Amino acid sequence: MVVKSICCLGAGYVGGPTCSVIALKCPEIKVTVVDKSKERIAQWNSDKLPIYEPGLDEVVKASRGKNLFFSDDCDAAIVEADLIFISVNTPTKTFGNGKGRAPDLKFVEGAARMIANVAKSNKIVVEKSTVPVNAAESVMKILKANQRPGVSYQILSNPEFLAEGTAINDLLNADRVLIGGEETAAGEAAIEELCKIYEHWIPRKKILTTNTWSSELSKLAANAMLAQRISSINSLSAVCEATGADITEVARAVGLDSRIGPKFLQASIGFGGSCFQKDILNLVYICECLNLPHVAAYWQSVIDMNQHQKHRFTAKVIESLFNTVSGKNICILGFAFKKNTGDTRESAAIYVSKTLIDEGASIKIYDPKVEKPQIYEDLKYVGVTDEQFQRHVTICNDAYLATKECHAVVLCTEWDEFVTLDYEKIYDQMMKPAHMFDGRKILDHNNLLRIGFHVETIGSRLGQPFKNRRYSINPQVV
Ligand code: NAD
Ligand code: UDX
Repeated sequence: MVVKSICCLGAGYVGGPTCSVIALKCPEIKVTVVDKSKERIAQWNSDKLPIYEPGLDEVVKASRGKNLFFSDDCDAAIVEADLIFISVNTPTKTFGNGKGRAPDLKFVEGAARMIANVAKSNKIVVEKSTVPVNAAESVMKILKANQRPGVSYQILSNPEFLAEGTAINDLLNADRVLIGGEETAAGEAAIEELCKIYEHWIPRKKILTTNTWSSELSKLAANAMLAQRISSINSLSAVCEATGADITEVARAVGLDSRIGPKFLQASIGFGGSCFQKDILNLVYICECLNLPHVAAYWQSVIDMNQHQKHRFTAKVIESLFNTVSGKNICILGFAFKKNTGDTRESAAIYVSKTLIDEGASIKIYDPKVEKPQIYEDLKYVGVTDEQFQRHVTICNDAYLATKECHAVVLCTEWDEFVTLDYEKIYDQMMKPAHMFDGRKILDHNNLLRIGFHVETIGSRLGQPFKNRRYSINPQVV
């Protein structure tokens, strides 16, 4: 089979950018991205795309209407396609068996059933969604049980490693592409077809082929290990704050060891995003089901440490404001889970905001790419009532309005524009003493101290002498 037509089920953060890049790089292939949400498809066909991602507009505009199409007619796109990506959401289950840990595979199953119901010719079906190990077997069972005469399927696993905010660069310059498939002649032929697509722009030596289960597990393993680095550095940031060491210096010293490397050692308010927590919970659940409780507990601790970091940071805000934020105005700078995205899934800012609201603070939120309806939904989801939202939350269109008359600023997202704000101006319009909590370690702390701010950050004690009396390197003196 030579792939002439691709369909992608799911026009989300992965399906949209990935297939736009495939269309750009493979002009001879027709790429149709479909979604059951008509609204999302309408946005993909408009000037305002449903997701903000640097470089995405240009890539979409280059191919849309030529060989790249966004449609809500899922059946027609499936019938026409030789190769189908399943790129639907796989959220953590919120009910039933495995609640709070196992991924809910109902959308993957739904996608498999849609394919089985309408396919009239042979298809290569590619799992792009992040799934538990052995999920491909379930997809195959559904397809085979509903197979029409003369139609055959090959299932491949091709997990996506892009990070939001850098998706287009990650797709164009992927460290590697991973393709898992059946170890049969037909399986290898299908793998080869998918390799040929990526080879339009990815060097062959960066395309790894494995068995299906290794590919599925590698995706969970990569995310677990990335998150584990963040939890490790965040755990050490607590030691720094208690001792006078500085986490930036420690991260630099540790990261210069070529066996460790410098990336993903940025201490923070805690990791967010739709993947890390969900995928580690998925791994934990698999380990529990496999009767590997020690392995499960090991990976669970990465999430526990992340929760602790968010809690620790928020507790520090409250403690520094004389143990009460009731009736105080607090500005939240940044609501997205990282810079250069409008995505707020699992953003640490949600936890911080909810806690401060519960403590009676009024919060003023500004994020360059997150709009009011999204913030409302996120806070409602964690239990902020409509009444609390009306009384305690103001969404602002710029950082100066958001900081005006506030007692404190809590920086939650590392947007570049926050680095270059006029902090003298901000200080002048704030209540005194003016507090700054830099949850991302991006600001010039010496300058802020010089202006007059009380500054707190992660992993260092700014301008304060070492004074933890309970600690001594000589245990007898404790
Ligand atoms: P998303 O929620 O942004 O998009 C998923 C889309 O699938 C939704 O628009 C939904 O309407 C659609 N959908 C669900 N069932 C469908 C069906 N049967 N037919 C057509 N459309 C259907 O999700 P996402 O962030 O793009 O993630 C997709 C998958 O990729 C997940 O498994 C995720 O873990 C994985 N992943 C995500 C990222 C990331 O950065 N977001 C990175 C790597 C992998
Ligand atoms: C992640 C993986 O990086 C990507 O490979 C996978 O495909 C999807 O999940 P994403 O969640 O989009 O990508 O962004 P990422 O850059 O990994 O950041 C995740 C969170 O960790 C963010 O909240 C970020 O601010 C935080 N982070 C990242 C840190 O706190 N410190 C770091 O050093 C790096």
